[in-house]
Amino acid sequence: MDQADELRDMMGKKNARTQRVIAISSGKGGVGKTNIAINLAIALSNLKQNVIIMDADLGLANVNIILGSMPEYTLLHVVKGIKRLNEIVMDTPFGIKYIAGSSGFSELANLDSNELSKLVSGVNDLSNTDFIIIDTGAGISDEVLYFILAADEAIIVTTPEPTAMLDAYGLIKVVAGEQIYTNLKLIVNRVKKTSETKKVGERITTISKQYLNMNIDYIGFIVEDETIPYSVARQVPFYAYDNKCRASICLDSIAKKLINPNYTENKKSGGFTAFFEKLVNLSSGT
Ligand SMILES: Nc1ncnc2c1ncn2[C@@H]1O[C@H](COP(=O)(O)OP(=O)(O)OP(=O)(O)O)[C@@H](O)[C@H]1O
Ligand SMILES: [Mg+2]
Repeated sequence: MDQADELRDMMGKKNARTQRVIAISSGKGGVGKTNIAINLAIALSNLKQNVIIMDADLGLANVNIILGSMPEYTLLHVVKGIKRLNEIVMDTPFGIKYIAGSSGFSELANLDSNELSKLVSGVNDLSNTDFIIIDTGAGISDEVLYFILAADEAIIVTTPEPTAMLDAYGLIKVVAGEQIYTNLKLIVNRVKKTSETKKVGERITTISKQYLNMNIDYIGFIVEDETIPYSVARQVPFYAYDNKCRASICLDSIAKKLINPNYTENKKSGGFTAFFEKLVNLSSGT
């Protein structure tokens, strides 16, 4: 039994609903992570899932820019013991909730066990949440790696550009080198010809299997769609702006796959408690 199970038992939450943490990452920057994280969250909430989007991009906190809202409190207030986790969860007009994480995550490494259990007990307030979707920064920094390793699942985003594909493979390779079980998925974004997406998806999955012995689930593609820059400029998530645009339809099919029990690997999820614990352990090097 790991520490997370122990804490869950203690809190009487053993049979609470399955909670999934999905990190959205990429090798190369600017490939569409933030847009995918927010709009996938909305597509999942359309399928009756309770979803929180968390912003972990330590550079630019760009989730709040697209959501058009400025948070008063962030994860940092929780880590410092000023607020409980449920007190910093913000409603958005789009059916999803939002936690501004950006500045708080780097402080997690400094928590002592007392502070960690306080944070973890706060996680139980989120027990009716089905998904936490985390928008991570790009590239192969320690932070990004820790999010991928601590989450149950990570979606790697690439575009069909060779540089983006190479960087995606580079990230997968680093994750593979850690020898910690992680369920990796792949989305190919900004697809102009649907014929090219299969090639891109297959190339990354085949090479990852062949050279790294990593199984990557290719869960779909999103077409190049001018609705995205148009809605970004207006600070509205594209799915909320037009849930029938081509990109939204692509996201619907990805969201359906994610919640399909026949598709999703049947591994017990550690839930949010395990995620925060793993993140603290990884970032403090224990
Ligand atoms: N499918 C698409 N069709 C058209 N434009 C797109 C698509 N996906 C993303 N874009 C454009 O790419 C820009 C960058 O997307 P986004 O900010 O989501 O990338 P990111 O990976 O989060 O970037 P960063 O690494 O800087 O955080 C968007 O503002 C949008 O204009
Ligand atoms: Mg981003």
